[in-house]
Amino acid sequence: MYEKIFDLTGRTALVTGGSRGLGKAMARAYAEHGANVLICSRNEDELKAAATEIGDCLPVRVEWMTADLADRKEPQRVAEEALKRFGRVDVLVNNAGGNQPQRADQITDEAWDRIIELNLSGIMRLTRALLPQMMERGWGRVIHTSSVLGLGGKKERNVYSATKAALVGMARSSALDLGPYGVTVNCIAPGPFLTELPLGLLNDEQKQQFTERTALKRWGRPEEIAGVALLLGTDAGSYITGTTVLIDGGTLANIL
Ligand SMILES: NC(=O)c1ccc[n+]([C@@H]2O[C@H](COP(=O)([O-])OP(=O)(O)OC[C@H]3O[C@@H](n4cnc5c(N)ncnc54)[C@H](OP(=O)(O)O)[C@@H]3O)[C@@H](O)[C@H]2O)c1
Repeated sequence: MYEKIFDLTGRTALVTGGSRGLGKAMARAYAEHGANVLICSRNEDELKAAATEIGDCLPVRVEWMTADLADRKEPQRVAEEALKRFGRVDVLVNNAGGNQPQRADQITDEAWDRIIELNLSGIMRLTRALLPQMMERGWGRVIHTSSVLGLGGKKERNVYSATKAALVGMARSSALDLGPYGVTVNCIAPGPFLTELPLGLLNDEQKQQFTERTALKRWGRPEEIAGVALLLGTDAGSYITGTTVLIDGGTLANIL
C-alpha cells in the first residue's frame, strides 16, 4: 500500500539553487525517485557539472538553466522556460538564497533590497507564476528553504532572518489559499549544514560554536536534507501543509 508514496515518476521538479549544497541534494533525491528535474543558479559550469552528476545512470531528464534570482524579472523567465521545456512543474523548491551580514545600525539599502528580492520577493514571483498549472491539475508541492535563523536569531543576520521568518509566514497563508486545489506549501528550516553559504561566512571558532549547539555534535551533511525534501515533495506528505520542518540536528532544542 505504501510502496509508491515517494514515487515521482512522470512529475517535474524545479529546484532553484540546485547547482550545489542543499539544492543539489534535493534535486538528486527527486531524480532518484523518478522526477524530471530542472536546476537553476547563476554559474553555468557548476550547473552543467551538477546536472551531469545527478542524471548519471538515471532514466530521467535532468536539465539546467542560468538565472540570477535577485533580478526582479528573472523568476517569470525561469517559470516560462521550465514550462516550455517540460510542460509542467509539479514540485517547486524555492531554495536559492543568500546572506549579507550587517549590524542593525549599518544595514545598507543595497544589501537589504538584494537579499529581500532573492530570499523573499523572487520566491513569491516564481511561485505565483507556477501555481496556476499546479492548481489546474489538482496536485502540487511548494517548498521554501527557510532556516533556523527564521525561527531564532544571530548577530548581524538582520535581513537574512527577516526573509527566512517571512517564508514561514508566507507558507502558512499560501497553504490556506491552495489547499482546496491539492497544492501543499511548506518550509524546510535547516540548521548548520556543510555547504558554501555558511562556511564562507564563519571563522573556525564560530563553526565550532554551531557544532557544540547541536545535539548531535556535528554539522549536517547536505544529503541529510533528502528525507524531508522527499516527504514534503511527494504523496508521502499529502496531509502536511502550512508548516515548517526543522532539520537542525537539535540546534534549537538547545537554549544554552
Ligand atoms: N547550509 C546551511 O547551513 C543553511 C542553513 C539554513 C538555511 N540554508 C538555506 O539553504 C539554501 C541553500 O543554501 P546552501 O547552504 O545549499 O548554500 P550553497 O551551497 O551556497 O548553495 C546556494 C545555491 O543558491 C544559488 N544562488 C545563490 N544566489 C543566487 C542568485 N542570485 N540567483 C540564483 N541562484 C543563486 C547558488 O548558485 P550561484 O551562487 O552559482 O548562483 C547555489 O546553487 C539557502 O536558501 C540558505 O539560506 C542553508
